[in-house]
Amino acid sequence: MAEKFDAVDVIRTKRDGQKLSRGQIDWVIDAYTRGTVADEQMAALAMAIFLNGMDREEIAQWTQAMIDSGETMSFDSLSRTTSDKHSTGGVGDKITLPLAPLVATFGVAVPQLSGRGLGHTGGTLDKLEAIPGWEANISNERMMEILEDPGCVICAAGSGLAPADKKLYALRDITSTVDCIPLIASSIMSKKIAEGTANLVLDVKVGSGAFMKDIDQARALAQTMVDLGTDAGTNTVALLTDMSTPLGRKVGNALEVEESVEVLAGGGPEDVVELTVALANEMLEAAGVTDADTEAALKDGRAMDTWKKMIRAQGGDPDAELPKAAHTHTVTADADGYLSELDALAVGVASWRLGAGRARKEDAVQFGAGIELHAVRGDKVAAGQPLFTLHSDEEDRFARALESLDGGYTIAAEAPERRESVVLDRITAGN
Ligand code: URA
Repeated sequence: MAEKFDAVDVIRTKRDGQKLSRGQIDWVIDAYTRGTVADEQMAALAMAIFLNGMDREEIAQWTQAMIDSGETMSFDSLSRTTSDKHSTGGVGDKITLPLAPLVATFGVAVPQLSGRGLGHTGGTLDKLEAIPGWEANISNERMMEILEDPGCVICAAGSGLAPADKKLYALRDITSTVDCIPLIASSIMSKKIAEGTANLVLDVKVGSGAFMKDIDQARALAQTMVDLGTDAGTNTVALLTDMSTPLGRKVGNALEVEESVEVLAGGGPEDVVELTVALANEMLEAAGVTDADTEAALKDGRAMDTWKKMIRAQGGDPDAELPKAAHTHTVTADADGYLSELDALAVGVASWRLGAGRARKEDAVQFGAGIELHAVRGDKVAAGQPLFTLHSDEEDRFARALESLDGGYTIAAEAPERRESVVLDRITAGN
């Protein structure tokens, strides 16, 4: 059958800064998924989009075409409404772990279809797989059962959702076209809209450990995603949150599970608790629950009960000991003063080099690898005091991890300015 459009014409349209028509977008995404448009042609188009952008209508159509490339899910048969969260990814970002059970405790279902990590940000499934017995791959039927009771599920996203995005994302990764607002927004939102959640809260990270290094870029990305969700009928709101320094005090798979359990036991670092509560309140409010005392549910063990049920429902033992790395190496302070800078990217890359993350998607991760932060930005430190403990199964990984950490922290005589809140802004639907 003759093709409706020609890839070269579509590329030329965007190369020359013109608007792509609805027909061109629908065709190019479909033809790329079918293999009629070649990788090198899509790479050229992605670069033209990177350089010349897309307007709101083009982004919405591009997103819809990616949704239409695969199957969609529906949670309409559930007895409760759904609220989901998506984070654009950061260092030490384990928030999904305490958040999903916390929200489910208040009767709202949380379907967290998650992925594995690539590069310096960790993947939620990699973290949970550190728990002995826990299984990421479950059937749709089992997922629906767990969403009724205990009400939250964190599992692998099926390969049928937005397959065009899967192919395009892999191509963007190797053609330097990832950090482009229209392409990031359509990539994330195509998967979230296809997944069918009724309510969605986006955690858009800002800072060295995030895609978006400055707040104006992050605001533009958040607004684009909120508008896409809203136009598609998904009740969507975004928080912009700080990722200039790691979240919490533990980075790495089993280490982050450990810290999440501390939060669920009513303790844990202040910033992790603050963000968990802020996102839970947004998810619940979006679902129409306005009187939930989420802080109390962390303190009194209700959220912990839901967590244990959620882990058991997928074969995991929530009380089992977590894997530990074979070797540790501690870095101490070389002067008295304040830890005035602790860079998220430096810590993320160091943790990745210790074995907590993967370089290629086929690689395995080390569950016990990562970094414990004995001091965080703003803390007073004394010479000789332990600052960080590095964990890895392979001792020869320490040198490269230390290289990354080296330029990533500063001890100064003066205390740095205190961060008021990890939440920097809130973005709702525009016009
Ligand atoms: N996450 C995605 O799923 N897609 C992007 O483009 C960037 C982050």
